[in-house]
Amino acid sequence: MRLQNVEFFLLFLFLFKYSNALRDTCPIGCKCDEDIQQVTCEGQQVVTLPDRLPSGYEILIIRNSSVRTIEKNSFRKMEKLVQIEFENNPNLGTVEKLAFKGLKKIRLIKFTGCPGLTELQKNAFSGIQNQVGLKIVFEKTPIHRIEGHTFRNAQNIRELTISGEELALSRHCFANINQLDFLTVSGVVLIEPEIFTNSTRFHVVHFKNSQFDIPPQTFSSLSHTSHLLIEHSKVPSIAPDAFSGLTTIQVIELHACQLGTISARAFANVENLGELKILRNTIGDLDTSESIMSKALKTRMEENTLECNCGMKWMTSVEEMSDINFCSTTASFRSIRSFVKAKCLHNTSQKTQRKSNHLPSISGVSRGFSPSILLISITILLRFRDFRI
Ligand SMILES: *[C@@H]1O[C@H](CO)[C@@H](O)[C@H](O)[C@H]1NC(C)=O
Ligand SMILES: *[C@@H]1O[C@H](CO)[C@@H](O)[C@H](O)[C@H]1NC(C)=O
Ligand SMILES: *[C@@H]1O[C@H](CO)[C@@H](O)[C@H](O)[C@H]1NC(C)=O
Repeated sequence: MRLQNVEFFLLFLFLFKYSNALRDTCPIGCKCDEDIQQVTCEGQQVVTLPDRLPSGYEILIIRNSSVRTIEKNSFRKMEKLVQIEFENNPNLGTVEKLAFKGLKKIRLIKFTGCPGLTELQKNAFSGIQNQVGLKIVFEKTPIHRIEGHTFRNAQNIRELTISGEELALSRHCFANINQLDFLTVSGVVLIEPEIFTNSTRFHVVHFKNSQFDIPPQTFSSLSHTSHLLIEHSKVPSIAPDAFSGLTTIQVIELHACQLGTISARAFANVENLGELKILRNTIGDLDTSESIMSKALKTRMEENTLECNCGMKWMTSVEEMSDINFCSTTASFRSIRSFVKAKCLHNTSQKTQRKSNHLPSISGVSRGFSPSILLISITILLRFRDFRI
C-alpha cells in the first residue's frame, strides 16, 4: 500500500516535470539563453517563426534564416515579448497585415539586412496595442514603397526610422497614426499628396538623403509637430503652400540641401512658426523676397550658395543676410552684397522689368518715388526688421 503511494507520487512528479519541460522547451532550431531571456533562431534551416517561446523570454532574434513571411498574428502566443529583431534574412519578403497584433509589451521591432523586404503593405503594423513607447527600425532593408495605411491606428510610437532605397511614400502611408515622437525617413524619391492624413501628433519629422519635390500641403495634418527638418537632400521644387497646415511649429529647417526653385509663398500660411532656418544649401532660383517670406518670429538664412543675378538685390536690404549668403562659382563665391554692389547698381531697369510680375523689390525705390512702390518697400523693410541673423 505504502509503496504504491510512493510510486504514484513519483509518477505524478515525473508527469508534472515533463509537462513543464514541454512548455519550456526551446523551439526547434533556436537557442535559448536564460541569462538574457533571449531566444535566437538562426541559420538557413529556420524556415518559419517559432509559434511559442518558453515562458519568461522577452527577446526574439531571427538571424540568417530562410523565413519568407511574417504572417498575420505571428506572435499571438508571445504576449511577453519586448523585442523582436530580424537580422540578415535574405528571403523575407512579406509582412502580412496585423503581423504584430497584440504585442502589448513590445518596445522594439527591428529589421536589419533584409534585402527582399521592399514593400510595406496596408495594416502591416496595425493592431499592436503596445502599452509603452515602441521603436520600429528598418536598416539596410531597401524599402521601395510604403502603402497607404501601413501603420493605421498605430499608437505611442517612440521612433519610426526607415532607411529606404528609391522609396515612394504612397498617399496615406503615415495616415491615422495616433502618436509618433521621432519620424526619420531616408532614400525617398517620391512623396504623394496626403501622406500624413489624420496624424496630428508627430513631434519631430526628419527627411534626409532623399530626392523629392515637395507638393502643396504635404505636411498639412501635422498640427502638433515641433521640428521639421529636411537635410542632405535634393529638392528640385518646393511648391507654394508646401508647408501650409503646420499650425504650431518651433522650427522648419532646410539644411545642406540642393534646392531648385523655392516658390513664392512656399512658407506662407504656416501658423505660429518659431524659426525658419535655411542653412548651407545650394539654391537655384530665389530671386523674389516672397520665397522666404513667412510669419516666423525669426528667420535665419545663412551660408547658402546661390546662382547670383541682379534680381537678388532685395536681399541687400537685409544687410547681414546678403553678407553671409554667397554666389556660386560663376561669381567666384563672393557675397551677395558684394556681387550686387559690383554688378547691379546700374542695372536697375533691366532687373525690375524681369521681376515685374513679382513683388517689387527694394531697388524699386531708386527707380523713382512712386508712392505705392515706396509703401510696399517700407512694408518689406518692416517685415525684415524681425530677422535675427
Ligand atoms: C550570417 O550571415 C552573415 C551575412 O551573410 C554572415 O556573415 C554570418 O557568418 C552568418 N552567420 C551564421 C551564424 O551563419
Ligand atoms: C480620417 O479620420 C476620419 C474620422 O475618423 C475618417 O472618417 C477618415 O476616413 C480618415 N481618413 C483617412 C484617409 O483615413
Ligand atoms: C548689368 O548690365 C550689363 C549691361 O547691360 C550686363 O552686361 C551685365 O551682365 C548686367 N549684370 C548683371 C549681373 O546682370
